[in-house]
Amino acid sequence: MHNILVTGSNGQLGNELRLVVEKKDNVNNYFFTDVEELDITNKNDVSQFLHANNIDIVVNCAAYTNVDKAEDEKEIADLINHIGVKNLAESCKDRNGLLIHISTDYVFDGTKNTPYKETDETKPLGIYGKTKLRGENAIINSGCDYVIIRTSWLYSSYGKNFLKTMQKLTAEKESIKVVFDQVGTPTNAHDLAEVIYLIIQKNEKDIKNQIYFFSNEGVCSWFDFAVAINEAFGHSCKVQPCHSEEFPSKVTRPSFSVLDKKKIKEILEIEIPHWRVSMSKCIKTLGIIID
Ligand SMILES: NC(=O)c1ccc[n+]([C@@H]2O[C@H](COP(=O)([O-])OP(=O)(O)OC[C@H]3O[C@@H](n4cnc5c(N)ncnc54)[C@H](OP(=O)(O)O)[C@@H]3O)[C@@H](O)[C@H]2O)c1
Repeated sequence: MHNILVTGSNGQLGNELRLVVEKKDNVNNYFFTDVEELDITNKNDVSQFLHANNIDIVVNCAAYTNVDKAEDEKEIADLINHIGVKNLAESCKDRNGLLIHISTDYVFDGTKNTPYKETDETKPLGIYGKTKLRGENAIINSGCDYVIIRTSWLYSSYGKNFLKTMQKLTAEKESIKVVFDQVGTPTNAHDLAEVIYLIIQKNEKDIKNQIYFFSNEGVCSWFDFAVAINEAFGHSCKVQPCHSEEFPSKVTRPSFSVLDKKKIKEILEIEIPHWRVSMSKCIKTLGIIID
């Protein structure tokens, strides 16, 4: 039996993980916290929480995730994505615990045109990616046991995300423009939560101290994703492709961030659903039947 701390549990992934373990796990003991219960940037609070509750596994779902705002809030983004993560890692090290941490495809610059591998050189383009990479490095340097999972384009029925934004926009507008020059893979946060649960269950030595990639299968642009969402909801909005320049932003996003999932599929012996299949499942949880 493990005592498991889940941080940032009011977010997309934290909520999905709660759903998965409530349904499947009657062995382990979970502590779901968000910033009100446990602020990961407070080193003392983190250390005391782990000690008082005899925590031996931490799943860090807490993060500063606003990619654009991070350019103006560098210190806060770094405090949460780097220093907060360092606090968790050091406390895990003190207790011989395992830290399962989520990172991002935005640690890459997107200049490749074949799927990224875990061994590829990182080169984040913006503050969000830079702070997430510092968080990863802080974990590795702490000497704690860890599993780092880099994911991409996360969505869920919880929180704010592209799928829910497009649900609303395609319902309200006659036509919208969506960028077609950024290519990657959407990830249903529920599928990622299932994978985290599998890692908790296995908790084996050969899984630990590694970086993995996880997204759904397949490849698309944000434009393709928006077209699929429009169709799935039965909306008749005209979705048109456009270039990133048409939406000026302070931060350049990687133009290509498809992740190669071979490593996680082999070690966990899993098959990963295609993004279209997982998108349909998420839409069904929003109360809409599409088939
Ligand atoms: N969203 C994506 O497209 C995406 C893509 C790739 C990777 N990821 C990574 O996947 C992970 C999960 O992302 P998500 O979309 O589930 O994030 P999310 O919905 O933004 O949830 C993050 C949660 O962390 C909380 N939090 C912020 N600061 C905290 C602190 N100091 N202490 C404790 N909790 C704090 C947030 O609270 P507030 O809302 O009050 O700030 C929020 O509830 C993150 O590591 C993210 O970097 C996300």
